[in-house]
Amino acid sequence: MKDNLLLIPGPTNLSRRARSAMAGPQLPHVGAEFYSTFKETVSLARYAFQNERSPQFVYTGSGTIGMESSIVSLVSRGDHTLTLSTGYFGHRMLLLNQIHGAKADSIEYKEGAHADPDDLRARLRKRKYTAVFITHVETSTSVANPIRELVAECQNAGVFSVIDCVCSIGGMPFDFDRIGADIAFTASQKALAGAPGAVLVAASDRVLQYMERREQPIESYYMNLLRWKPVMEDPKMYLATPATQVLLALRVALTDLKTETIERRWARHKRLGDITRRSVADWGFRLVADEGFRADTVTAMWVKNGTAGPIQKKLEEEHGIVVARGIYDDKDTMLRIGHFGNLTPRRLTSALGSMGRVLDELGLGANPQTVVARA
Ligand SMILES: Cc1ncc(COP(=O)(O)O)c(C=O)c1O
Repeated sequence: MKDNLLLIPGPTNLSRRARSAMAGPQLPHVGAEFYSTFKETVSLARYAFQNERSPQFVYTGSGTIGMESSIVSLVSRGDHTLTLSTGYFGHRMLLLNQIHGAKADSIEYKEGAHADPDDLRARLRKRKYTAVFITHVETSTSVANPIRELVAECQNAGVFSVIDCVCSIGGMPFDFDRIGADIAFTASQKALAGAPGAVLVAASDRVLQYMERREQPIESYYMNLLRWKPVMEDPKMYLATPATQVLLALRVALTDLKTETIERRWARHKRLGDITRRSVADWGFRLVADEGFRADTVTAMWVKNGTAGPIQKKLEEEHGIVVARGIYDDKDTMLRIGHFGNLTPRRLTSALGSMGRVLDELGLGANPQTVVARA
């Protein structure tokens, strides 16, 4: 199997240490060694979320389990909810609200546009919602929504806020305690640089108390945050068998994050974002996300119709570098570069140099010399 450089928006390459953590002997999930590993992982997750005060959850599942757990645990059938939809994952959040019986409203934004706090304020004046669902970084367009301002609007209106941080935490500033969101979740395989398979959630005491007082019972066993809470406090409690290898790798990845420090990690990702955006400008491509709202974890760009596939293929076959195309309707016209996790500016610069050469060879206007010189 080729050991390619993954520049897709998840999963990302694992460090050697994380890989070997997964390759050790099978640990029983009932036993002192796993209990202490798990406790440490939850405590490290707190650091990644900057969550000292509120309950922190880590359990098996992908980011979608985080989306669905938040909805199922918080929203009763017939509740009014609002989703700010800035792309594919915003749509998914809306869909999940509908599936679980919410009277689900949305504010839809055009591709590349960010969610506007003024729109949210106006909507919150019109109706009392149970919760507002917001994507921090919309991976399909690389828009970074103004999360602090949006959450502040929810707080002012006394509405719960649920934030999809799957493509932000560990790569872009997000401070759960200071922002004051009610639920935030991410997944292990993106900026945290773990293997796919763990979902990480922070939830305020206030939202958990609300869940406890709900009249309608929570219609899920596995995705019920209230059932997971005692397991987080005491891992000896059994709810479902955890993906132990995934959690072992996550512990290593989160330890690396803490060693780097969250501030330095955010700064490194800012550099990765700047380097990528400069290269895109040098190639003459247009960024999808509006200026001022561009993520430092993923960069989406428009390319000439029909060229996304050939660029992706040549880059992988000749250079072992994997980038992503746009999702569904955008698959022929958009490329997305994921730049997070353990990626260094030097490795990214070299990979973008290769991409520049591929574009040149395909006659798509790249100028690799400029890219290398400016990075
Ligand atoms: C912003 C966002 N939310 C949710 C998800 C869903 O996560 P998963 O694919 O791990 O279920 C993704 C996946 O890429 C994402 O980027």
